Amino acid sequence: MSKVDVVLGSFYGDEGKGKIIDYLSQKSDISVRCTGGNNAGHSIEIKGKKFAFHLIPSGILNEGTTAVIGNGVVIDPKVLIEEIKNVEANGYSTSNLRISDKAHVILPYHIEMDKLQEEQRGNEKIGTTCRGIGPAYCDKYERCGIRMGELVNNKFEKQLRKNVETKNKIFESYGHHTLDVDEIIKQYNEYAEFLRKYVTDTVSLLHNAIIEDKKILCEGAQATLLDIDFGSYPYVTSSNPTIGGICTGTGIGAKYIGEVYGVLKAYSSKVGEGPYITEQNNEIGDKIRELGHEYGTTTKRPRRCGWLDLVALKYATMVNGLTGLAINHVDTVGKLDKIKLCVGYKKDGKITMDFSASLDYINECEPIYETFEGNFGDISKIKSREELPENAKKYLNRIEEIVKVPIKFIGTGAGRESMIVC
Ligand code: IMO
Ligand code: MG
Repeated sequence: MSKVDVVLGSFYGDEGKGKIIDYLSQKSDISVRCTGGNNAGHSIEIKGKKFAFHLIPSGILNEGTTAVIGNGVVIDPKVLIEEIKNVEANGYSTSNLRISDKAHVILPYHIEMDKLQEEQRGNEKIGTTCRGIGPAYCDKYERCGIRMGELVNNKFEKQLRKNVETKNKIFESYGHHTLDVDEIIKQYNEYAEFLRKYVTDTVSLLHNAIIEDKKILCEGAQATLLDIDFGSYPYVTSSNPTIGGICTGTGIGAKYIGEVYGVLKAYSSKVGEGPYITEQNNEIGDKIRELGHEYGTTTKRPRRCGWLDLVALKYATMVNGLTGLAINHVDTVGKLDKIKLCVGYKKDGKITMDFSASLDYINECEPIYETFEGNFGDISKIKSREELPENAKKYLNRIEEIVKVPIKFIGTGAGRESMIVC
């Protein structure tokens, strides 16, 4: 029986998961999104054309691959419909798209609530994407959410009326504008009409595929340090983008999981507020941002940039049980003269490799760096690790040595073909 492979973010998101997913999904029968919503932004470049996916698994671009949006995802139907239309407008079919009937729907009050909560947090804001992700998951757990199944079967009106009434009371109490329930119902009935044909029981679909020995790829969104349990709470997203979320977000049992690839960049970046121990809030960070084009796919925000943190990476390895690493932007760090690598933290005068995502812990730690030579030159066409320049090899070898997980993919440039498969 073929095992289900998983791609996860190892740091704070935006590690270039799309690139690895794109490669692996070409060899997969099914490609699945498991958690999060349109807070994610996965860009891939094919034949010089850039695609940004927020909800649809990027495997949709491969003929013959079924793209599944799993039950763990929260779906903004408006965004999904735009994405479907965009894929079709570019000459690709979406007839292989399947959406879980159990995935929860993002409604306008979730987005308004996300914005209002961020406003209320003032200086302590999380820096969410304001896409309604957190409030939608809140309603899921509150058990007043509306799921795709109810949406497309037009069985959502009663719950929606109740919800809008409750939410409007909250909006009113903050002097925020209220929402017109009839308008929402009209709009969402139109969405339901459009999306009906895609919605199905994806749990059975995935199980049947496993039994039939089909290759399944799970596309993680967000990342380990954004995990609601294992990330730097409260500066996290509202789901479990770590390995557990893959199982609960699809209905695939743990025994079917095979490779778990952790994606990272040869440097690091973060959007939103919260701790970031190797951040370079200086000319180096600015330079990395320009070289790596570190501006959000989803919100266009300039990303905070810094050095790669192996203490955090070891933690991601532990929490997810990573079996392989995929390192992107090796070409980008190779454009610098000197590269720093965080190989430990100094805490209370002692050196440690222990990571705790708790804010107090991180605030007391100081990064310890090793310095490497850069100037790798153009590596975009290199096809094997052995052919890489010595400086690049030394840097990559050291990462592997400390983290003790083999490097399986090396990103050498933006294009689909600029990657070394080890
Ligand atoms: P991909 O899949 C980077 C961050 C937000 C914010 C925090 C909470 O592209 O790697 P949310 O809107 O989820 O409630 O915001 O999480 N965040 C991401 N950062 N990449 C992502 O996804 C992210 N998804 C959420 O910036 O700090
Ligand atoms: Mg992103």
